[in-house]
Amino acid sequence: MTVADHTTVESPAPDVHAIEVVVDGRTEEGTVSSRTLLVHWLRDELDKRGPKIGCDTGNCGACTVRWNGRLAKSCMILAVQADGTEVDTAASLAAEDGTLNNLQQCFKKHHALQCGYCTSGMLMTATDLLESGEEITDRSVRRALKGNICRCTGYENIVRAIRAAAGQDVQKPHGHEEGEAQ
Ligand code: FES
Ligand code: FES
Repeated sequence: MTVADHTTVESPAPDVHAIEVVVDGRTEEGTVSSRTLLVHWLRDELDKRGPKIGCDTGNCGACTVRWNGRLAKSCMILAVQADGTEVDTAASLAAEDGTLNNLQQCFKKHHALQCGYCTSGMLMTATDLLESGEEITDRSVRRALKGNICRCTGYENIVRAIRAAAGQDVQKPHGHEEGEAQ
């Protein structure tokens, strides 16, 4: 004897969720699964290439964005959590015509990037620090950057670029000026 003949097996509800997020000042709509990470949605669906995937575990900072105005690692946020919120990537920093902002220009001038993989996250963290009102010192910059890993630069030029963006004189000692061989 079997009871299976009268059993109705219901299909699971599709794991698809509509979201609407203001990204870099523009309202974006999409559908995501409940497991889609924000960094993947930004990169794969919106083609926002600023946030990078360095570790997917919240350790490297390459995916750093500002989420409702606060720093966040977008590999630690589900895309569905971002529904109804605002996300800013490094693409929000330059002007519409592509002119780099002061911080970006300082990164360029002070050679604060090499491969560039960490740079977007560094810029977002630095932006947050510069807007925080905290005193900008070598120590405060390094403390702010503790969640952002750079495997190329040794951090020295990143710190200098951020201090320069705050208007500080960060010229190297005579004989080591910008543009000279290092
Ligand atoms: S990819 Fe998000 S912290 Fe490394
Ligand atoms: S410039 Fe290469 S990881 Fe920072």
